[in-house]
This record gives sequence, structure tokens and C-alpha cells, in this order.
Amino acid sequence: MGISSTDPLLLRAARGEVVDRPPVWMMRQAGRYMKAYRDLREKYPSFRERSEIPEVAIEVSLQPWRAFQPDGVILFSDIVTPLPGLGIDMDIAEGKGPIIYSPIRTQEQIENLRTFEPEESLPFIKTILQALRQEVGNKSTVLGFVGAPWTLAAYAVEGKGSKTYSVIKNMAFSQPAILHQLLTKLADAIAIYVRYQIDCGAQVVQMFDSWAGQLSPQDYEIFALPYQKRVFEQVKATHPDTPLILLVSGSAGLLERMAQSGADVLTIDWTVDMADARARLGKNVKVQGNLDPGVLFGSKEFIRDRILDTVRKAGNRGYILNLGHGVLPETPEENVAFFFETAKGLNAAVV
Ligand code: CP3
Repeated sequence: MGISSTDPLLLRAARGEVVDRPPVWMMRQAGRYMKAYRDLREKYPSFRERSEIPEVAIEVSLQPWRAFQPDGVILFSDIVTPLPGLGIDMDIAEGKGPIIYSPIRTQEQIENLRTFEPEESLPFIKTILQALRQEVGNKSTVLGFVGAPWTLAAYAVEGKGSKTYSVIKNMAFSQPAILHQLLTKLADAIAIYVRYQIDCGAQVVQMFDSWAGQLSPQDYEIFALPYQKRVFEQVKATHPDTPLILLVSGSAGLLERMAQSGADVLTIDWTVDMADARARLGKNVKVQGNLDPGVLFGSKEFIRDRILDTVRKAGNRGYILNLGHGVLPETPEENVAFFFETAKGLNAAVV
């Protein structure tokens, strides 16, 4: 798989090629802000149905593609989707997020986790990714994604989302050996899952370490970074040409440490000015981001100004235009359309 000029824009930018305009996509670009998604949700009220019945997940993934032609089309799924395959049963509750029925609290539970076999436990992933590649051809890039070890451990141990992360921090600081054992098992399973997504057609894979920004930099180096590295190293060993993106929410104090993870592209959020991020990371680190998702509540002129400002600061090499985190469910759909139109109308003169 060599570099080819027929490759889609996002893939070329993620490899560091100079491109005419920055590719653009949005995290959470399929979902509740779209009427088509809300309508389909009435017919399939369970998130697991929407994401695990191939025809439904394919349809949801393609809703934003048909509406906006983004440069990236992301698999519709969730970071907790692989957990049942490890023996951690879960559901995704309306408005709440993941619920783990028997949270992982003991060494015995960790030792009893199942060996992860994605072909068996997640057969729908292959059908979905193949259909997405077929549908978008070389007009867009198909993205896969996974949760990172720390963030998946946070769900597995807490049992649900958390504001304080008290349960997992209790484990981290009073029984670290147990948590390290869990993080190791998760990292090895996640690496297998990333490879599987690539083999099924994902051209770029983003790893979400959404809750690693809840750790102090010192603890990020102990509980998050080594396991991000463990995943990326294992994937790079067999799939060196697939660009890997890392996201940490609230990462302003961690940027330089994130660059040590082995990710090809770092997602920057809006708590850092893009010019500062570029200065801190140097020219060789590729970046994605970083508009505040709330900008899409502003006027068209405001949205346009913020896009131009961000793109000028980021430059035209090794840069993917995106929000700094997921699009908010209340966002007006026409502002999302305007965001994509404006971004796709940019040219080298602007940048
Ligand atoms: O980007 C995309 O279009 C792909 C879809 C996607 C979903 N979840 C679908 C989803 C992605 C990339 C995710 C990742 C994910 N899931 C993360 C990492 C991204 C981040 O936000 O940091 C996390 C932390 C989760 C866990 C999770 N799942 C949460 C916190 C929630 C939201 C709860 C809520 O209702 O706001 C979910 C449920 C979920 N996953 C929804 C979607 C579209 C909303 C529920 C629905 O639409 O019915």
C-alpha cells in the first residue's frame, strides 16, 4: 500500500502531504442534531440495535455523508461496543451513556476476562466498514475508532460515566497493580480491535482517551500514556501505513506528553489556541481540531471567521479541520451544513 495521489484528502493530510485545503470532518457527526437520525431512533430505540444491526449502522454512518460530504466518514458505533466480547456486559442508556452491569472491582474479575476475538464477538463491524468503503469510494476517508485503555477502564471500573472518577482513582492510588493488570489486558484487546478495523476497511483510526485529561500529568504518564503506546506500537508493528489519531479531552496540560504516544495525529481542543499548539508541538506533529463545538450556535459570519482563524494558525500541512470535541446535540443542522460548505470552499490562497 504505497502513497497514491488517488487517495482521499484526509488520508493524504494524515500522512503529512501538502494538500490544497485542509480536509474536514466532525466528531460525532452522526447523531442527535440530525433530524434523519432522530427519526430513525424512533424505529430503533436501542443504541445497541442502531449500532449493531449492520443495515441500520450503515444508514446512520451515511446520513452525514449524504447531507454534507465530509472528508471523513466515521463508523457509527461506541467505544464500549467491544466490552461484551471481553465478558463485560453493558448497555447504552438514552441521555446517560454506557452502563456496565457488573463493574470490575476485583483481581478475580480481571483474570476471568475473556480472550477478545473480534470476528466472533463483533461480526457486524466488517459488514459496516466494507459497506462504507464501497459507498464513499475514494471521495472520502473511512475512519474507525476505539476507546483507549484508561477511558475504557474508567467505564468498566466505575460502571458508568463519572464526574470525579473516585472509584477508578481509588483503585489507581490504593491498588495500582490490579489496575495495571486491567489496563494491560484492555490495551492488548484494543490493539487487536484496531487491526481488525483496519483489515475490514478503516483507512484511519482514532483512539479516544476522553477521560485521560482527568489525570494529573504525573499520573497520565503512569496510567494513560504507557497503554496508549502499547496499543499504537502493536498496531504499527503490523499496519505501519495506517494513520492513528489520539484524542484526550481537556488536554491543554498534556500536549507534549501526548506527542510521545506514537500517534500520527493529535486532536487539539479549544482550550489551547491552535497557534500555541503548533508552537508547542513543532512542525512535525500533525494536528486536528480545534473549534469549540459551541461556535456552531453562532451566526454564519462568526462561524466563518473562526474557521478562517483556526485554519490560518494551523497551516496547510499535517492538519485536519475539526471541532475540538463532538458536535453538540442541540446544534442547528443548517450551521453544520454551513461549516462543511465553508471548509470545503477554502483554498490554498486562504491558508
Ligand atoms: O463520531 C461519530 O459519529 C461516531 C459515533 C460515536 C458515538 N460514540 C455514538 C454515540 C463515537 C465516536 C462515540 C465515542 C464515545 N462514546 C466516546 C468518546 C468520544 C467523546 O465524546 O469523548 C465516549 C466517551 C463514549 C461514551 C458515550 N456513549 C457517551 C458519553 C454517550 C453520550 C450520552 C449522551 O446521551 O449524551 C454515549 C452514547 C452515544 N454514543 C450517543 C451517540 C450518538 C448518544 C446516544 C444516542 O444518540 O442515542
